Amino acid sequence: MPPTVPVVDAARPEPAHAPADAAAFDLAALPAGFYDDPYPWYHALRRQDPVHRLADGSHLLTRYDDLVAVYRDFKRYCSDKTREFGPKFGATPLYDQHTTSLVFNDPPLHTAVRKRLGDALAPRAVEAMQPGLERLVETLLDDIETRGEFDLVEAFAGAIPIEVIGNFLRVPHAERGPLRGWSLAILGALEPVLSDEQLARGNRAVEEMYAFLQGLIADRRRHPSDEPDDILSRLIRAGAPDDYVLDDFQLIHQCIFLLNAGHETTTNLIANGIVTLLQNPRELERLRAAPALIGSAVEEMLRYESPNQLGNRRTTEEVLIAGLRLPAGSYLHLGIGAANRDPAAFPDPDRFDIGRTPNRHLAFGSGIHTCAGLNVARLEGRIAVAGIFARFPRLRLAGTPVRSHRARFRGWARVPMAVE
Ligand code: HEM
Repeated sequence: MPPTVPVVDAARPEPAHAPADAAAFDLAALPAGFYDDPYPWYHALRRQDPVHRLADGSHLLTRYDDLVAVYRDFKRYCSDKTREFGPKFGATPLYDQHTTSLVFNDPPLHTAVRKRLGDALAPRAVEAMQPGLERLVETLLDDIETRGEFDLVEAFAGAIPIEVIGNFLRVPHAERGPLRGWSLAILGALEPVLSDEQLARGNRAVEEMYAFLQGLIADRRRHPSDEPDDILSRLIRAGAPDDYVLDDFQLIHQCIFLLNAGHETTTNLIANGIVTLLQNPRELERLRAAPALIGSAVEEMLRYESPNQLGNRRTTEEVLIAGLRLPAGSYLHLGIGAANRDPAAFPDPDRFDIGRTPNRHLAFGSGIHTCAGLNVARLEGRIAVAGIFARFPRLRLAGTPVRSHRARFRGWARVPMAVE
């Protein structure tokens, strides 16, 4: 196999803490300090080896332009995961979930599900959610005010998405308790390395969620609704434009994915964004002085600390990426977090700039699988971040935040905070 074309940018020396040599980097054996700050490694990889071969023969891409090219071409870079998840999960509920959900499928199943989600997640439907979301955020802030000290993730960032997605599927309020735990266990099983315990937890979560959704779907079949944002009724309803019939197994796995897709990611957007603003007091002051910047501030949070740092594709034919020829069947890791710090796409990429324009980040992916919930996530991010800083001018960290130790999903497990 020919060597990768090295990319050297002499004008931008590597930061002092960057590893001198990225050759040994492997997602299956992450270097110390990676969870705290993965970006020096991503910069080094992008410069030295932008299509980096890992020990298992897969490749990690770190350049913005390469990711865009892969995302655009869904025929040559497919999303089907049966080949890698067979050995990873065996014949288990996790295998069923992660090979049936729309995100890990290509047309026609993908097209059929995407069409059914259609209008329910479109900008106009999402705008209608704003008053309800504002009320929810105010209620959570009331509770925080009475407590004084709180964990940002548990009391705020994690609580908002649960309610939003729970509303989409009309999950009764009293039954939302287990949703977050299920979501963390099922998406956690996508990490590059897994313990037996994590696998068992993930499988248990799919089983429990499956049983829960069977009940919810049976109930909705008895009481269907025409409300445009009732996603479950839309998914169940027959007669979609393509006439592709989703059987119960497929339907339930789409719902499991939907419930999960909007949880950890949006929690991370909100918590990452608030912590990043506190760590960049000048940008926080800028936002306080010009609250209308909240829209571009959220885009910058998505770029700077992308909640979903890694995606995957498999080549369906021989391809050429950055001068490297890869055969059909090659497995690719798309470094979203790395691409979003690529100096070729974002001047001064390690600077957090809430007014950055343009800001064509890849936090929501791109192409046919572009995040279907991006309007919802943006709205949640804007209302949550603007709301907490407006209510508490003296919001502060009350301890050291603890990272969630995930390579794929970048966020915090706990962020001790206080308000005065
Ligand atoms: C900040 C929050 C979010 C981030 C960073 C995020 C990120 C992503 C990314 C990168 C993808 C593309 C995956 C790929 O191409 O391989 C994706 C897909 C998806 N996301 Fe999101 N997401 C977020 C929030 C949400 C929310 C709130 C929902 C639901 C309301 C949602 C639903 C979906 C769905 C259904 C897909 C699959 C789309 C498809 O395959 O066509 N996401 N998301």
